[in-house]
Amino acid sequence: MASALGQIGGAAQAPAGLRHAAPLRWGEMARPIVALAPMDGITDSAYRQVVRCIDPGVVLFSEFTSVEGFLRSGRVRRRLDFKPEEHPYFVQLFGSDPEAFAEATRALEQQGVMGIDINMGCPSKKIVHSQHGSGLMRDVGAACRIVERVAALGRLETSVKTRLGWQDSSGLISFAKSLESAGASLITIHGRTYGQRFSGTADWAPIYRLKEALSVPVLGNGDVRSRSDGQAKLGNLDGFMIGRAAIGNPWAFVARGPGGPPAWREKAAVIATHYRLLREIKPERIALLEFRKHVAEYVRGFDDAKAVRWEIMSAPDDATLLRRVEALAWLDEALPRAS
Ligand SMILES: Cc1cc2nc3c(=O)[nH]c(=O)nc-3n(C[C@H](O)[C@H](O)[C@H](O)COP(=O)(O)O)c2cc1C
Repeated sequence: MASALGQIGGAAQAPAGLRHAAPLRWGEMARPIVALAPMDGITDSAYRQVVRCIDPGVVLFSEFTSVEGFLRSGRVRRRLDFKPEEHPYFVQLFGSDPEAFAEATRALEQQGVMGIDINMGCPSKKIVHSQHGSGLMRDVGAACRIVERVAALGRLETSVKTRLGWQDSSGLISFAKSLESAGASLITIHGRTYGQRFSGTADWAPIYRLKEALSVPVLGNGDVRSRSDGQAKLGNLDGFMIGRAAIGNPWAFVARGPGGPPAWREKAAVIATHYRLLREIKPERIALLEFRKHVAEYVRGFDDAKAVRWEIMSAPDDATLLRRVEALAWLDEALPRAS
C-alpha cells in the first residue's frame, strides 16, 4: 500500500503520528466532525485510503454490510478489511437481529474498528421489507433493542444513521431520543424522509431542532457539496457527512482557497493511485469494471470529457488504464486554467 499511496502527487499525506493516534471517542474529536458518508459500491478500502490521503482528519465509514452476511460469509467479512491509516474507521451494518449485531460487533472489535454504525436509513424495498434500514424507523422498539445490545458490549462507539422520518419529520425527536436512551453515542440524519428517497432537497431545519433536544453529537447529511458548503450548513451541529459530492471528487474535503480545483496532473496521480489501491483488493477484471463508476465522476468538466471517459473506461487491462489516466495530465496544457 505504501507504494501506491506514495504516488499521490501533491496530495497531503497523513503525518505518521496521526495515523495511529486518532481519538477513540466522538467527544474527543475536533469539531466540526467531517465524515465520508457510507456509500455502497463507492466507499471501499481503496477509496477510503484516497480520502485519507487528501485529508488526515476525515472520519471514514464502510459501505453498509448485512450483519447476517458478515457472520456467514468470509467474502462479506473481507469487504470490511481496512488499513491502520483509515482510522478513525467505523463499520456500518444493517440487519434486525440484536444478537447477530452483538456477535458481529465482538468480531469487529477484535479487528480494531472504532465503532459500529447502525443503518436505519436505507430506503431500498428489499431492505425495508425485511425490517432493516429505514424499516426500523417504524419500529422504535426493534431499533432500540439493536442499539442497546451493541452499546451494552461497551467498548465501541454505537452510532445510528437515519432519515428525518417515514413521510415527515414529526417523529424525529422522539425516535432519536429513544435511540439516545438506548445507548447511541452519535446520530447522523440525512435530511430527507423515507418517502423522498433521494428526491427534492435535504431539509436541515429539523436536524438543528433535533440537536437542541439531544445530548449526544449530531451530524447533518444531505446535499453537502464541499467542506465549505458543510461549514455553511453546520449551524449548531457537531459535524457533517459528504456523500455524492465526494464520488470522483475526494477534494470535496479540502478547504480550498482562491486556487480553484486541483490541476489535472494532481488529479491524474490521485486517480491512478485509487486504481492501484483497488487492484490490491480486487482482481483485474473486476477492478476494471468497478472503476468505471469512479471514472464517470473523476473525468468531467471539459469539452471532450465524454470521449476521454470512454477511452479510460474501455481499457482492457491495468497498464492501458493507467497509461490513459496518466495522459490526463496533458489537460493542464490543453485547457484554459480556471481561476
Ligand atoms: C451510491 C450510494 C450508495 C449509498 N450507500 C449507503 C450506505 O451503504 N449506507 C448509508 O447509510 N447510506 C448510503 N447512501 C446514502 C448516503 O450515505 C447519504 O446519506 C446520501 O447520499 C445523502 O448525502 P449526499 O447528498 O451527501 O449524497 C448511499 C448513497 C449513494 C448515492
